[in-house]
Amino acid sequence: MYKFQNIYKPVKAKLTEVIEESPTIKSFVLRPERAFPFKTGQFVELTLDGLGEAPFTPSSSPLIDDEMQITIMKAGYVTERIHKLKPGVTMGIRGPYGRGYPVEEFYNKEVLILGGGCGFAPLRSLLYNLKAEEDKIKKLIFCYGSKTPQECIYKPYIDELRAVKKFEVMRSVDEPDDTWAEEVGVVTKLLDKVDINIKNSISVVCGPPIMMKFGTFKLLDMGFPDNKIYLSMEKNMSCGFGKCGHCMMGKYFVCKDGPVFTYEEIKNEPDIWK
Ligand SMILES: Cc1cc2nc3c(=O)[nH]c(=O)nc-3n(C[C@H](O)[C@H](O)[C@H](O)COP(=O)(O)OP(=O)(O)OC[C@H]3O[C@@H](n4cnc5c(N)ncnc54)[C@H](O)[C@@H]3O)c2cc1C
Ligand code: FES
Repeated sequence: MYKFQNIYKPVKAKLTEVIEESPTIKSFVLRPERAFPFKTGQFVELTLDGLGEAPFTPSSSPLIDDEMQITIMKAGYVTERIHKLKPGVTMGIRGPYGRGYPVEEFYNKEVLILGGGCGFAPLRSLLYNLKAEEDKIKKLIFCYGSKTPQECIYKPYIDELRAVKKFEVMRSVDEPDDTWAEEVGVVTKLLDKVDINIKNSISVVCGPPIMMKFGTFKLLDMGFPDNKIYLSMEKNMSCGFGKCGHCMMGKYFVCKDGPVFTYEEIKNEPDIWK
């Protein structure tokens, strides 16, 4: 029988594991008390009694609804406290909210994904989704950059991605160490090496605002049309469903109309890179 699910009410979820991804980033494995479906690119509000809540995009596969991973970078009050949590505590997840990646638009296309830092988190969920539908896309190139090798997240998952026939992964770091054998420099430099048929491609950018800005400009220089560049926007969110107005970006509620937009949709709105 269909049961009404109230998306405004947090669903209890047990924290079962904490995975250290880098000195500042951890993944939190949550087991919700009921199935919690979401689409890749949608976000949830993670709550903890007495601590508050914050928006995050699940980093796990959208094809799994009985367990969710959320990857969190220490940024301030709420995230620092979440980083101190140990398995066993009960948290709350409400949502999912917003418009995620339109995966069907990627079918029969070459897909170029550009990620930076903790921006890999939502992209991992997209990559899980596209890996499961590998037969429906032509090929996928994932360019990922971080400041240092220590800050490269999901190291075991990179090997998994490299084993997928249609996938190619390129990584770069700004500051290499003796162990680093891949590219050096800003992540957009990787785009110079990409072999892609732009006429039949789609691109996705997710990362810190400065990287999103220069990544988008580089894709435009390469010839990507405005409507073939997908961006996942982070704005200051509160309610998550279009009521409080905290997330306004020009005419859009980022929580409801996004967080995933094409560059064409938002290019004339104010402060898109802030
Ligand atoms: C749709 C969406 C999805 C997100 N997904 C993830 C995710 O998967 N993993 C992750 O680590 N973070 C994600 N974030 C960012 C995360 O919500 C913020 O880092 C968090 O709310 C910071 O809370 P805080 O209390 O720890 O920090 P605060 O004390 O509130 O802020 C610390 C610093 O972070 C900046 N900041 C706070 N919130 C944001 C924001 N929303 N966007 C940009 N800068 C911000 C502040 O300006 C300040 O400089 C997402 C944000 C949105 C809107
Ligand atoms: S977060 Fe409240 S309107 Fe978008």
